[in-house]
Formats: sequence, C-alpha cells, structure tokens
Amino acid sequence: MAALAVAILSVPVAGALAMPSDEPVVEQPAMEEPAMESVVEDQATEDQATEEQATEDQATEEQATEDQATEEQVTEEQAATASLSDEQMEEARTIFANWSCGACHVMGDANGTGHIGPSLDGNNAMDEAFIISRVTNGQGAMPGFGGQLTDEEIALLATYIMEAKR
Ligand code: HEC
Repeated sequence: MAALAVAILSVPVAGALAMPSDEPVVEQPAMEEPAMESVVEDQATEDQATEEQATEDQATEEQATEDQATEEQVTEEQAATASLSDEQMEEARTIFANWSCGACHVMGDANGTGHIGPSLDGNNAMDEAFIISRVTNGQGAMPGFGGQLTDEEIALLATYIMEAKR
C-alpha cells in the first residue's frame, strides 16, 4: 500500500517538475495548478488509505458482529427469546388459525380456546426444539403437520408460540 501510494504520487510530482522547462516563463503561474493537484491527490490518497483502514475496521467489526450473532443464536436456541417482526407474528397467527391449532389449544394471542391439547398459555414446559418436534411429528391426539407445513413454517410457529404465549 505504501509503495503504491508513492508510485501514484510520484507521477503528478514528476509532471509538475517537468512543466517549467517546457513552458515559457509567462506560463509560470500555471505551475501552481498541478502542484496543488498533487497536494489534492496526496490528500485523496490519504483519504483513501483512511477509508481502506475504515473498511478493514468495519470488516473486523462485521466479523465481531457475526460472532456475536452466532452467540446470540445459540443463546436464543437455549432461552428461546427470538424476536419476530410484526409481519412474522401475523404470519404465524394466520398459520395457527388456518391449521386449527386453536381448536385444541388455548392461546390468547392467536384466539386459541380449545382444550383437547394442553394450554400453550402458561405452558413453561416447552422450548422451540420441543414444539418443532411435536408439531412436525405429532403425539397421541396431536396430529403431525410435517407433511403439510414446511420446516420454516413450523420453526416460525415454534418461535411465535414461545414469544406470544402468556
Ligand atoms: C386435534 C387437536 C389438535 C390440533 C389441531 C393441534 N394440536 Fe397440538 N396437541 C394436541 C394434543 C392432544 C397434544 C398433547 C400431545 C401429547 O403430549 O400426548 C398437543 C401437543 C402440542 C404441543 C406440545 C405441548 C405440550 O406441553 O406437550 C404443542 C406445542 C402443540 N400441540 C402445538 C400445536 C400447533 C402449533 C398446532 C397447529 C399447527 C396444533 N398443536 C394442533 C392436540 C392438537
């Protein structure tokens, strides 16, 4: 990087130095322009260097953020405290209603009032992995939805239930 900067800089400087011998003395004032340009370029190169440094810093930060995200994900999986957007919440409510989950389960946020299955409100015995497994495979009177809902929809439901149950 330093060698490159010197190479770039040396071009306008050499040009500026060559100017006076070729040009008549009258043109002398014009000399200031390229000289200034080289200063400007100098500044530009420095700016660029700073920017590159900034980009590197940012890359490091992004890496750090990614690491953090991975950590957060692990924590989420353990504590199941994922946070859904309003849209995702709404989508989950729709799936919950469309597949009649509420006919068998109490869950106020999704207007579920059924008592065939355990209430999801007040249910502290679940985590996301458990819900995913139950909803995918079913159990006893609980039908499995594995063939009807996608893995993403089931995962969304699981996160939603963990977040919205009261
Ligand atoms: C026909 C009634 C019925 C429907 C419809 C139904 N479930 Fe269930 N569900 C049950 C029953 C019964 C259980 C208890 C199964 C067992 O442990 O034997 C259960 C268990 C569960 C559990 C585990 C709760 C616990 O504490 O054991 C979750 C979570 C769940 N259902 C979510 C859903 C979702 C989400 C839907 C909709 C996609 C749904 N259920 C649809 C009857 C139903």
